[in-house]
Amino acid sequence: MITQDFPPETGGIQTYSLCHARVLAGKCDRFGVICPDHPDAAAIDNTLGFPVIRLKIRNDLLIVSLLRNLNRRLKEHPVDATFHSQWQTAAAGIRARNRGLIKQVFVAAHIRELLFNPFAAVPGLGRLFTAYRNRVLQQVDHFYPVSDYTARSLMELGVEASKITVVINGTDPQQFYPDDASGLKQKLGLGSKKVILTITRLVERKGLDTVLESLEKVLKKVPEAHYLVVGEGEDRQRLESIIRKNGLAGNVTFTGRVPYEELNAYYNAGDLFVMPSRTQPPDVEGFGIVFLEANACGLPVIGSDSGGIPSAIKHGATGFIVPEGDSGLLAERIIELLTHSELRDRLGNEGRRRVVEEANWQSVSSKLFEDLQARLEH
Ligand code: GDD
Repeated sequence: MITQDFPPETGGIQTYSLCHARVLAGKCDRFGVICPDHPDAAAIDNTLGFPVIRLKIRNDLLIVSLLRNLNRRLKEHPVDATFHSQWQTAAAGIRARNRGLIKQVFVAAHIRELLFNPFAAVPGLGRLFTAYRNRVLQQVDHFYPVSDYTARSLMELGVEASKITVVINGTDPQQFYPDDASGLKQKLGLGSKKVILTITRLVERKGLDTVLESLEKVLKKVPEAHYLVVGEGEDRQRLESIIRKNGLAGNVTFTGRVPYEELNAYYNAGDLFVMPSRTQPPDVEGFGIVFLEANACGLPVIGSDSGGIPSAIKHGATGFIVPEGDSGLLAERIIELLTHSELRDRLGNEGRRRVVEEANWQSVSSKLFEDLQARLEH
């Protein structure tokens, strides 16, 4: 596995890479990860039980280092295939395959990394980069997008449907499970509150401002509602200024980033989970692992119809999907869930069942492994 993003950094592709790696390592005869270095890497790498090769280079320049030394590494440590968590590093795998060092090159697809063009604003260079990306995509043996939306986007970029297999994201029902969080709620001063929860990196496309817009309407019907936001990021200041402007300071709590070991307690402090992401290309939601994490804790979830979210939420079964940017409809769904505990339980239980039976890393990684193996055997 070659990935630009790997823990201890936080984010969806980091979670994706680590969780697939854990399962694939147990199934492959030989398995290792190549990723960029991080000052706190040792604490996690030492627990993994498979080799993690850390290259001292910036995430987005990993390809440069790979083009210099991947072939040598593959000669020293032969493997059948490379699996790239993002297309950006695939050129090195393609070159190794063309020299006969591996059999096939597999690439995951989320969405932002497919659409993002670092040179978009530079005349000429932007188009060159797009042409380079399309050339790389054409030479990949098989793609594993995380949602139907991402699969459609790949086809729009010229990838044949026969080269695409959707493997949705998962979560870990042993790491995320229903639990009593009254202690944490007391500590946060939310003992008597009905908690609307978001856990995410704070970036604009996650649509937290739409939740803030909906709060006035929610509070009229459910005065004990409180919005708890877990996570950190560049959008925090903007969100805090909206809160001040709308006089919501007493109704919203930001915790900042919390460690992985505490995430389960924070999910359980919520009565429902919400993340109404917006489509702001290249910033688009590929799936939304957080919806599954919340479902695994027995929470119903509300997301928008943006990007791959419809692959993460079963509308009417595990939660609700509302039109992106529609704070009025969002408020109605929040009120509906906060005031109907049976509905809340039904959707939350179904969400947990879906995670336990289908949308867990063990199942989805096994599906991925079987598909990779079948392709390598042909
Ligand atoms: N420990 C900790 N602390 N983890 C956090 C925090 C925090 O404060 N905030 C977010 N996370 C973790 C979540 O628990 C989750 O595992 C991950 O970061 C966020 O994943 P996603 O909800 O999937 O969002 P993303 O935007 O970072 O990821 C992108 O790739 C994913 C993988 O395919 C998006 O395209 C997602 O839509 C996609 O699912």
